[in-house]
Amino acid sequence: MTDERPIGLFDSGVGGLTVLDAVARRLPAEDLLYLGDTARLPYGTKSPETVRRYARRAVSLLLTRGVKALVVACNTASALALDAIVEEAGKVPVVGVVGPGARAALARARGLTGPDAEAPIAVLATEATVASDAYGRAIRSLDPFRTVMNVACPLFVPLAEEGWTENDVARAAARLYLAPVVEAGARVVVLGCTHYPLLSETIAAALPAGTLLVDSAASTAVEVEALLGENARRDGGTGETHLLVTDSSERLRRVAGRFLGREAAALELVDLP
Ligand code: DGL
Repeated sequence: MTDERPIGLFDSGVGGLTVLDAVARRLPAEDLLYLGDTARLPYGTKSPETVRRYARRAVSLLLTRGVKALVVACNTASALALDAIVEEAGKVPVVGVVGPGARAALARARGLTGPDAEAPIAVLATEATVASDAYGRAIRSLDPFRTVMNVACPLFVPLAEEGWTENDVARAAARLYLAPVVEAGARVVVLGCTHYPLLSETIAAALPAGTLLVDSAASTAVEVEALLGENARRDGGTGETHLLVTDSSERLRRVAGRFLGREAAALELVDLP
């Protein structure tokens, strides 16, 4: 039986709109309710305890709005707080971005042959995600001998928000951050943060030609569809998207548009306890 309730998506800010876009493409008939905790952004520089506390509050707000599933679009929250979110969500199913991203990276790495097949998988992420080694744990749980290297790229977040994705500053940051990845010979690189897909061309240019970049948004959307099964709406209609934020400003609207690739719909301001 089709479940008419919306899918809830949560991120620390508006970067997760890249995941919303992927879910909307995969399941166009679904209503989507997105919450960006913009008042508390960034999560990526905060302690696990704080991220877990913030994530619980955000998720409980989405639950009060009656969502049928929860998508944790934020890599940092998925890495540090997925168990807390699952507990908070009770019977509502939860999908984070780390699991689908890890599985997609491993599938790409397994397609490589020769010395490339032995190369480490590189994960680019916030400092908090790197410290948690969540991607490494997820990958090794499927392939215990796979080497994973984590590289924190904190400046990519403000660069993406500023729209500085293809200028000299972005290129210099990418060169510096990615030098150890090039040195290690990684052939598969995970964009383990909502903001990094916006810099994918600059990141690719700082890596040897043919390096495979993995963005978890599309694989997360596939997982959401599988999870919903018969509860997915497939009535051929176009679902509505509703955006909630905990802080709003003209700048935020601009940044949201950058992530969505079009002007953002009205942002509803909400407060979290
Ligand atoms: N959404 C975060 C992530 O994907 C990036 C921004 C932040 O640090 O809050 O890790």
